[in-house]
Amino acid sequence: MNPFATEASGQLILALSKGRIFDDTLPLLAAAGIVVTENPETSRKLILATNDPNVRVIIVRASDVPTYVQYGAADFGVAGKDVLLEHGGEGLYQPIDLKIAACRMSVAVNAGFDYASAVRQGARLRVATKFVQTAREHFAAKGVHVDLIKLYGSMELAPLVGLSDAIVDVVSTGNTLRANNLVEVETIMEISSRLVVNQAALKLKRARLQPILEAFERASKTQG
Ligand code: ADP
Ligand code: PRP
Ligand code: MG
Repeated sequence: MNPFATEASGQLILALSKGRIFDDTLPLLAAAGIVVTENPETSRKLILATNDPNVRVIIVRASDVPTYVQYGAADFGVAGKDVLLEHGGEGLYQPIDLKIAACRMSVAVNAGFDYASAVRQGARLRVATKFVQTAREHFAAKGVHVDLIKLYGSMELAPLVGLSDAIVDVVSTGNTLRANNLVEVETIMEISSRLVVNQAALKLKRARLQPILEAFERASKTQG
């Protein structure tokens, strides 16, 4: 394991992504008495201090949070269920659904595309998504043949320019779909963000982690 995260001083490293996860985790941290003293939106620093000299926050891409925690470079982190399903969860303990960053994973198509009859007729569908594992499992369970096209963002564009027949993406208000004349045709699952903890850190640093996990658990009950 990485000595940076396991030094004898008992330092805890929390991995967060900028934006909604960082913003929605702040109140949970506050419930544990932890205040991040630097702002990732204005600072270029990737390791942020908190009011607790033993707790630091690292800022990583949302889809990289499970990887940092898996390898012990971070002791714990916050990641969406969508991201965790793609990662696979290896080496991660997932004790708490924090109920933050709530959305759903859905299938969407161009408003004019008759998805139901394409499926009925056994058509082979081109599906663009960042979430290839989830999409593969969803369509396999339905018995729908798909060619998956991996994208890294702006999935809503794909059907508009003929890259795909459908997309699998997260939807919250539906504003992005509406703005691009797409319609949601299936909900695959409800999504929220989870606390993930490195399995070794949970054993070696339980005394330091436990009060924070308990505060997160209590505070998350008031969310959603
Ligand atoms: P990314 O840079 O990967 O898009 P985000 O901050 O947008 O990172 O998303 C982080 C997590 O927040 C996602 O893994 C998902 O669980 C959730 N999420 C994504 N989009 C939304 C949304 N529009 N509303 C609520 N939650 C969302
Ligand atoms: C997410 C997601 C959708 C949108 C859905 O994008 O990829 O495009 O939110 O939310 P809505 O249903 O409320 O419109 P995000 O805002 O995270 O932008 P980005 O990931 O492309 O930066
Ligand atoms: Mg996003």
